[in-house]
Amino acid sequence: MASTTPIVDKKSEITSRLSMSREEMLNLTNRVSEILVDQNLNLSSQDAWDGEFSDGLAKIFMTDPPEDGRNIDEVLEQATRKIFPYSLKLAHPKSFGFVSVSPTWPSVIADFLVSGMNSNVCTWLVASGPSQIELTVIEWIRQWLGYPDTAGGLLTSGSSVASVEAFVVAREAADNPMRATVYMSDQTHQSIIRAARVIGIPADNIKKIPSDDSFSINVNQLAETVVEDVNKGYQPVLIVANAGTTSTGAIDSLVWIADFCESQNIWFHVDAAYGGFACITQRGKKLLKGIERADSITLDAHKWLYQPYEVGCLMVKNLQQLENVYSMRSDVLQDTVWGKDHPNIANRGIQLSRTFRAFKIWMSVQSFGMQAFRDSVEHCLVLADKAQHYIQNSSSLQLLSPSMLSIVCFRYNPKNANLSETAIEKFNRKILVRVFWEDDAFMSSTMVNGAFALRICIINHTTTWNDVKETLDAVETFGTEALESN
Ligand SMILES: Cc1ncc(COP(=O)(O)O)c(C=O)c1O
Repeated sequence: MASTTPIVDKKSEITSRLSMSREEMLNLTNRVSEILVDQNLNLSSQDAWDGEFSDGLAKIFMTDPPEDGRNIDEVLEQATRKIFPYSLKLAHPKSFGFVSVSPTWPSVIADFLVSGMNSNVCTWLVASGPSQIELTVIEWIRQWLGYPDTAGGLLTSGSSVASVEAFVVAREAADNPMRATVYMSDQTHQSIIRAARVIGIPADNIKKIPSDDSFSINVNQLAETVVEDVNKGYQPVLIVANAGTTSTGAIDSLVWIADFCESQNIWFHVDAAYGGFACITQRGKKLLKGIERADSITLDAHKWLYQPYEVGCLMVKNLQQLENVYSMRSDVLQDTVWGKDHPNIANRGIQLSRTFRAFKIWMSVQSFGMQAFRDSVEHCLVLADKAQHYIQNSSSLQLLSPSMLSIVCFRYNPKNANLSETAIEKFNRKILVRVFWEDDAFMSSTMVNGAFALRICIINHTTTWNDVKETLDAVETFGTEALESN
């Protein structure tokens, strides 16, 4: 049972050189709170991105650690002026590059609280309260995905690690064959290939299947390759489907792949790192139909569930399979074995010491309620639709990939200019550089069917249609200027 103790300033009794007085602690905390709140409220008046070349930064920071401590205000001042500004402000409403996240404020504060409490969600004995909250959040995610009640999982640093954890279970389920192969589309995220390498699959046995016109895996070619490989004596252990590719947001044919995996007795994994949390909306649920049949799913709450880094998630359809792989007995941890209803979450994955990632999800959902999260995801889907429509109606922009979720790929290519592919690429690269250095927005690029494409990914709950439109207008303006000065 928890009890509260009166707050006393124990500075006079403290002998540690690494402690602070209550007043010093509060001053520092208040100062940081002020910096963070102001930064958050003023984001849209800043540029989404700024960067510096390494010689400039190394000159300031590549120094020996000081023997005596510096004034903490000076350290903070230096950090706010010379460190943090040189980065992509991922929460900026015009930060459309890569997969930029905009955390809710309660989630940020939750991480602060967790850090201050020094929570370690390794075992029930060490952290029963935090363990229960992680189980609760995992249960929410199970229900959002429509997974059966045999399912469970854990929160991870992100999807890269969650994929490694899943693939080990897949390999075990296939009895660790010597000639193991894995399959995925050519649009699959590099972390999946890395995870396959980590679990010991040779590069030649990682099969990238071409995608079709909508950037989804060509299922006929997938089936043919698997059958051919089996005939050659290989043992397919895993097929990875995408529930939102990073490049275009494409979703593979989840139901088809689920049927195929079932018929061939192959582990079915879904990489839903980017698109997975769209499942909290009606539209997302429809788009992700079949995900609930996967043997394992990876999702990132630090993407479309508005959480600060880091929080990913691994869910497996049969929790027992996960625990069979990761449960370890240890003499030192013998007191932590409390039985089935008191799981040690460290027995579900790689990490023993684990931060309390569930708390930020729990606290933000408790603060705002699920309807607010659903509306925010839906808002991003609508903005992407509008962006696509705007591009399709523009005489100078060309849509390169339809927006299935909230990513739109396009390029500057005026209808009557008859530009060569080489010229189009040259102009679009110039446009992107000008967006980086001159505009307040940030976007990134990708390759679509071999063509250089500008890419916007909209998953920020604070982004407005005006933010999107102004960014598309800036592309048109920079494009026109590049064409005129050619
Ligand atoms: C589709 C997809 N899969 C996997 C990952 C890797 O996730 P993380 O960066 O959380 O490790 C990403 C990251 O952007 C992604 O977009």
